[in-house]
Amino acid sequence: MTLRVDKRGAVGWLVFDQPAKKNAISDAMWRAIPPAMEKFDSDPEVRCIVFRGAGTEAFAAGADISEFESVRSDRGAVAQYDDLLDRVLHSIQGSLKPSVAMIYGYCLGGGVEIALACDLRYCGASAQFGVPAARLGLGYNVEGHKRLLETVGHARAREIMFLGRRYGADEALAMGLVQRVLPDGELGRYVDGVIQTLCENAPLAIANTKTVLEEYLKVAGEPDLARMRAAIERCAHSADYIEGRRAFMEKRKPRFTGK
Ligand code: COA
Repeated sequence: MTLRVDKRGAVGWLVFDQPAKKNAISDAMWRAIPPAMEKFDSDPEVRCIVFRGAGTEAFAAGADISEFESVRSDRGAVAQYDDLLDRVLHSIQGSLKPSVAMIYGYCLGGGVEIALACDLRYCGASAQFGVPAARLGLGYNVEGHKRLLETVGHARAREIMFLGRRYGADEALAMGLVQRVLPDGELGRYVDGVIQTLCENAPLAIANTKTVLEEYLKVAGEPDLARMRAAIERCAHSADYIEGRRAFMEKRKPRFTGK
């Protein structure tokens, strides 16, 4: 098993530690995440949780492909694996403690899923992101798609998924995949500062925000298409739409009334 789970002071650390495979995440490592999260969740001393890869070459180069033949090949196994992934992501997203992904080097496939399940993502300039599912012929799982869509929007999500290419740290920042990029040599100190603030700020206030945001992100029923169409119609027949067109043609500022 190559997931290191350590508590240091008020911080719970989860470290992907398989450097010979660029910290690829094995089945056993995936399985170890929900119980580790549970342990940190129920420990009142733990105020925040941090994910990283061992060393500085990789956060995680995705799931361990060498195991796919045995754990992710036929239909039943794929469904089981995806259920496991969903459980892992929910254990991070559903935690009321703030989570941080500290990213050096490769952050691919399942590495991106873990990072996106965390509340905050900070990376070094060396970081490279990508989801190469289309290069592997792999049907990427539901929760991973959902989080990617919510984070970067569907236009970018399509490009990331269809091309399966890698993106540098600055591109990742521009897409909103990470909150900040630091030179590799400064990432540790910066994240230490974030951790300190997270540990000092009010846990219940943070938990409250996590609860509210996750509730909003939750899928709740079908979008009401009729209502959306009615809203569009209302604009089409409004005085403001006439005013907007006129103002543009007359090269003046529009005066909108909400009617
Ligand atoms: N699963 C299993 N093994 C992996 C792995 C993964 N996801 N990613 C890397 N490795 C292994 C390689 O097979 C190689 O093993 P070897 O030394 O026995 O040949 C070792 O890690 C080093 O990787 P290598 O490809 O030689 O390093 P690199 O610096 O040239 O490239 C990557 C690094 C991460 C870009 C490349 O290994 C890669 O594309 N990995 C697969 C990423 C992927 O598709 N992830 C999504 C899975 S869903």
